[in-house]
Amino acid sequence: MDERIFFPATERNRDAIADVLSEVLPQSGIVLEIASGSGEHGVIFQTRFPNLYWQTSDPNPSYRKSISAWIGHQGLSNKMPEPIDLDVEKTPWPLSLELRSSLKAIVCINMIHISPWKCTNALFKEAGNLLKKNQVLILYGPFKIDGEHISESNFRFDQTLRARNSLWGVRDLDAVSEIGTKNRFNKRKIVHMPANNLLVIFELKK
Ligand SMILES: C[S@@+](CC[C@H](N)C(=O)[O-])C[C@H]1O[C@@H](n2cnc3c(N)ncnc32)[C@H](O)[C@@H]1O
Repeated sequence: MDERIFFPATERNRDAIADVLSEVLPQSGIVLEIASGSGEHGVIFQTRFPNLYWQTSDPNPSYRKSISAWIGHQGLSNKMPEPIDLDVEKTPWPLSLELRSSLKAIVCINMIHISPWKCTNALFKEAGNLLKKNQVLILYGPFKIDGEHISESNFRFDQTLRARNSLWGVRDLDAVSEIGTKNRFNKRKIVHMPANNLLVIFELKK
């Protein structure tokens, strides 16, 4: 049985995301991806960055099965680690000593608007505990800027999210940055991405 899940958006955004990641990720070590979902991003990034180990994770067992299936399907089983069962709120995150010591960056795509706000807090707090000075936490997704949506489609998406779950919603970049600051992260760079998404690079100060 093929357990791969297909998220159509990943095909549309993966190359643009990988292009920005290529400018910011380190040359070696482990990158931890939070909320990997189907695993389609993970296998593409592992292939694009062969000198890194791409560590996927997700709390949803069906998604973890999909990630494993994608790893096998792409012939990456000898290189890429199996996904970790990781819920950002359950701290400390269940990372091996090797992963902790070789961790170089954390990437989180399309999670903070589809989870309660406390998950964003937990993400920054634990990322701050795990990363070292000048290492980065990279977020991708839709954001409000100065409290305003940057497109009509983001506004409608936000309404749909909130209708599904009142604790979800497109986050304001200033509010996210404030949580970053509380956890010793500086906003290093904001990149405007296709389809009104942003990629935001947060760097640990010390
Ligand atoms: C919209 S999907 C995005 C998946 C993938 N990153 C992508 O862009 O295709 C949201 C993901 O967030 C994950 N998620 C939700 N709450 C989470 C939590 N508390 N900790 C970690 N991941 C979470 C879900 O399991 C799901 O995989």
